[in-house]
Amino acid sequence: MWSQTLLGACLLLAAPSVAADTCQAPINHPGEPFSNVQALNTTILSTYGHSPAVLPSPNMTGNGGWETAMKKAKRFVNKLTLEEKSWMATGQPGPCVGNVLPIPRLNFTGLCLQNGPQCVQQGDYSSVFVSSVSAAASWDRQLLYDRARGLAEEHKAKGSHVILGPIGGPLGRSPYDGRTWEGFAADPYLTGVCMEETINGMQDAGVQANAKHFIANEQETQRNPTYAPDANETTYIQDSVSANINDRTLHEIYMWPFANAVRAKVASAMCSYNRVNGSHSCQNSYLLNHLLKGELGFQGYVMSDWGATHSGVASVESGMDMTMPGGFTLYGELWTEGSYLGKNLTQAVQNGTVEMSRLDDMVVRIMTPYFLLGQDKNYPSVDASVGPLNVDSPPDTWLYDWKFTGESNRDVRANHSAMIRQHGAASTVLLKNERNALPLRKPRNIIIAGNDAGPLTQGPDLQGDFEYGVLAGSASSGSCRFSYLSTPLDAINSRARKDGSLVQSFLNNTLLTTADLTSPLWIPQQPDVCLVFLKSYSAEGEDRTSLELDWNGNAVVEAVANNCNNTVVITNSGGVNVMPFADHPNVTAILAQHYAGEETGNAIADVLYGDANPSAKLPYVIAYNESDYNAPVTTAVRTNGTYDWQSWFDEELEVGYRYFDAQNISVRYEFGFGLSYTTFGLKDLKAKSSALSNLTALPAKRPTQPGGNPALWEAVHTLEAEVSNTGDVSGFAVPQLYVEFPDSTPAGTPPSQLRGFDKVWLKAGQKKTISFDLMRRDVSYWDVVAQDWRIPAGSFTFKAGFSSRDFHATKDATLIKA
Ligand SMILES: *[C@@H]1O[C@H](CO)[C@@H](O)[C@H](O)[C@H]1NC(C)=O
Ligand SMILES: *[C@@H]1O[C@H](CO)[C@@H](O)[C@H](O)[C@H]1NC(C)=O
Ligand SMILES: *[C@@H]1O[C@H](CO)[C@@H](O)[C@H](O)[C@H]1NC(C)=O
Ligand SMILES: *[C@@H]1O[C@H](CO)[C@@H](O)[C@H](O)[C@H]1NC(C)=O
Ligand SMILES: *[C@@H]1O[C@H](CO)[C@@H](O)[C@H](O)[C@H]1NC(C)=O
Ligand SMILES: *[C@@H]1O[C@H](CO)[C@@H](O)[C@H](O)[C@H]1NC(C)=O
Ligand SMILES: *[C@@H]1O[C@H](CO)[C@@H](O)[C@H](O)[C@H]1NC(C)=O
Ligand SMILES: *[C@@H]1O[C@H](CO)[C@@H](O)[C@H](O)[C@H]1NC(C)=O
Ligand SMILES: *[C@@H]1O[C@H](CO)[C@@H](O)[C@H](O)[C@H]1NC(C)=O
Ligand SMILES: *[C@@H]1O[C@H](CO)[C@@H](O)[C@H](O)[C@H]1NC(C)=O
Ligand SMILES: *[C@@H]1O[C@H](CO)[C@@H](O)[C@H](O)[C@H]1NC(C)=O
Ligand SMILES: *[C@@H]1O[C@H](CO)[C@@H](O)[C@H](O)[C@H]1NC(C)=O
Repeated sequence: MWSQTLLGACLLLAAPSVAADTCQAPINHPGEPFSNVQALNTTILSTYGHSPAVLPSPNMTGNGGWETAMKKAKRFVNKLTLEEKSWMATGQPGPCVGNVLPIPRLNFTGLCLQNGPQCVQQGDYSSVFVSSVSAAASWDRQLLYDRARGLAEEHKAKGSHVILGPIGGPLGRSPYDGRTWEGFAADPYLTGVCMEETINGMQDAGVQANAKHFIANEQETQRNPTYAPDANETTYIQDSVSANINDRTLHEIYMWPFANAVRAKVASAMCSYNRVNGSHSCQNSYLLNHLLKGELGFQGYVMSDWGATHSGVASVESGMDMTMPGGFTLYGELWTEGSYLGKNLTQAVQNGTVEMSRLDDMVVRIMTPYFLLGQDKNYPSVDASVGPLNVDSPPDTWLYDWKFTGESNRDVRANHSAMIRQHGAASTVLLKNERNALPLRKPRNIIIAGNDAGPLTQGPDLQGDFEYGVLAGSASSGSCRFSYLSTPLDAINSRARKDGSLVQSFLNNTLLTTADLTSPLWIPQQPDVCLVFLKSYSAEGEDRTSLELDWNGNAVVEAVANNCNNTVVITNSGGVNVMPFADHPNVTAILAQHYAGEETGNAIADVLYGDANPSAKLPYVIAYNESDYNAPVTTAVRTNGTYDWQSWFDEELEVGYRYFDAQNISVRYEFGFGLSYTTFGLKDLKAKSSALSNLTALPAKRPTQPGGNPALWEAVHTLEAEVSNTGDVSGFAVPQLYVEFPDSTPAGTPPSQLRGFDKVWLKAGQKKTISFDLMRRDVSYWDVVAQDWRIPAGSFTFKAGFSSRDFHATKDATLIKA
């Protein structure tokens, strides 16, 4: 329960260094009628723009196994001067993308914070793993864990203490969001599992994970304020977009994966660029103090996104524990000692504005994961080679004399490439396969077409939307430095050579769409198969403007398919592509790859030739038309008021497939869909034991642990079903369980919500019994009045099958009597 309120939100304004947004009620949203029922209630409407203040910031307790490490952290903090404490909470320019200063007196070598979710961004001789959206498409817990562990081993060997990931938001509210590929699935349950496995993998390797971006960072457009150009980024023209979300939606959709992250004992969380209900995320005490540290029992530290801090005392009191990169301006424009924290924080403690106990808690939170993961013992030093690769704070901006020990340009790749190749194949979704197009059977005559098949010809670093070369990663903070790149062109050529096939390649999209392909020069003889490789680029900093394949990809498919009766399309994209060509009779197969890392070529060849049986499933919906999607990104406001950028999450729970199901809109390929070279059956869905007769609607109130009330995470109902391989080859089945809530659940509850899945290997003809453990949270909705998770009375329908629209068995059960 939150206390409303010791200090009103507006009283915070009296504190120093507070950006003046806290008291605004920006309910002006021109051109965007706020259409849900609550909009008609002006009392509720006017509360948007005011996240209620919840103060003070809770101390960490060490609950959940952190007690010993917390004691060590407290002993460490006791030895610090006030100034040292302030700087522990304040970044500094240095070799890593984020740096906490060393304290040589205490043998503390500082903290190195590095991007990113797919690789060591500033790492030469390091691996490029499959992207996060690819990993999510595998629906494979072990893969997610292994990937994260391998990635973290490389980070550790380069000296990173903290990896800036994984990403639980953007969650895919809008398919146009430029960053969805850095996150997982357009579904909180699947994303929650991905968060948990990734955090476990990273932290088991000894590196701190960072759950970002908290919260509702669902668009790139206007994620940061626009500043007056000549004012050193201190005067706003317009403030960042405000995500206006109601309580139930926040809990059931956007916070859900962060609850999994906290339960996995994530070391840190990153507050996001956007505002939520009008207040900047990094100074929103309701979000940080009440929800994250209070309700979810988060024990780690909250760090700001880079430049997301807009106040000093207000942010500190609101629960932010570390500001990054530490200067008060955005990227590299101006690196000075100036920071909202740093010396200002020292002063604020000295003059009594901030209590020393608050600062102590900040530093204890920062140092506990360090001791918990043994980073105080023989941790690898920061590799000197990362510094010059740092675009955020290059060496000429450093104020501190950073010392480097150990080998430079360390090769940290180990044998990860074999795993990355397997992961690439396991993450490739087979969407269409007709007339036995795939797997390929020693085709004699192959055409490779499209600008996504070949090598990168415009530099190693994917900064900018380049035209030529396979897109195996993307740009900005999630970008990677490839040490080599297996391309489809290479991989298919080397297979084809073994088979004695003829291979001809046409990699220029402009030529493909303008040339006369009927000429024998173009489509010679009758090819056995035409493999068309296409892509779409998306990256941090801007949203997509189209869901079509880039560089005229649809026209390339048409041109080839009009002349080739066995056209196989392979996409490499950050997320959704609409696929009008899927209806073309000569398009016999479609494979959706995402940014699949350094082994992308070998991985796709493994799938095309049948060495790997595809098993991935879409982590989002592919609609027929772009206009079928809801929740568009807010791209413009028609007024020029400072606080006018508003994004109204008035679709509420209807995010992704939940919307298409609720509105009964037919789709081209649904969430959870993906083919295999074999076929599967599922039957006999039943309860493993009868429903507990003593189950209560609300959970017993037990002391909060990381993840919240532990009662929410207890299995309350277990179902099982028989899954069988009904085809001729071995493969992985991905049985999925969706829940339809009883009629007594409040309006707006989506018809089907994913609440369980498994990935099981089955030989041809083999059967296995699988089970789905439903935890209390899985069968509850967020009751906004009780401020708790409530299991509704009445009959649930559990639906099991192989996608969100392909149910093979259903089972009704009442868990709570009316
Ligand atoms: C508006 O919402 C408030 C707070 O939930 C409630 O007390 C009030 O009755 C509502 N008014 C109307 C007209 O529905
Ligand atoms: C945002 O405002 C809505 C509507 O008043 C409320 O339901 C929700 O709890 C608020 N959330 C935050 C984080 O302030
Ligand atoms: C945190 O702990 C300190 C003592 O260690 C105490 O003085 C302070 O009041 C506590 N703060 C909160 C918010 O409980
Ligand atoms: C720092 O390390 C040295 C060498 O290992 C050791 O002698 C010294 O006691 C350490 N100092 C502290 C404060 O831990
Ligand atoms: C911006 O910062 C630079 C460097 O510190 C300074 O010279 C200049 O006067 C500042 N401009 C404004 C408008 O504050
Ligand atoms: C304190 O913060 C302000 C921004 O509010 C900044 O201008 C100033 O440089 C900071 N002071 C120090 C000493 O860092
Ligand atoms: C305390 O210090 C802060 C940070 O420098 C400053 O902004 C604030 O005005 C000071 N308050 C008082 C009461 O001196
Ligand atoms: C691709 O083809 C177009 C049209 O012929 C041509 O203008 C362009 O230079 C070609 N690109 C490359 C890299 O050859
Ligand atoms: C399919 O490809 C064949 C060539 O193999 C071509 O003759 C035919 O017109 C194509 N069909 C369509 C609908 O384009
Ligand atoms: C394409 O056409 C050729 C002959 O025109 C035929 O042998 C072959 O089976 C066709 N391929 C497909 C996939 O339909
Ligand atoms: C905002 O727009 C109005 C109407 O176009 C104009 O009069 C006003 O000067 C603008 N204000 C700013 C700060 O640009
Ligand atoms: C409910 O019943 C189960 C099984 O009969 C038992 O294990 C559990 O302790 C009971 N819970 C409570 C709160 O009584």
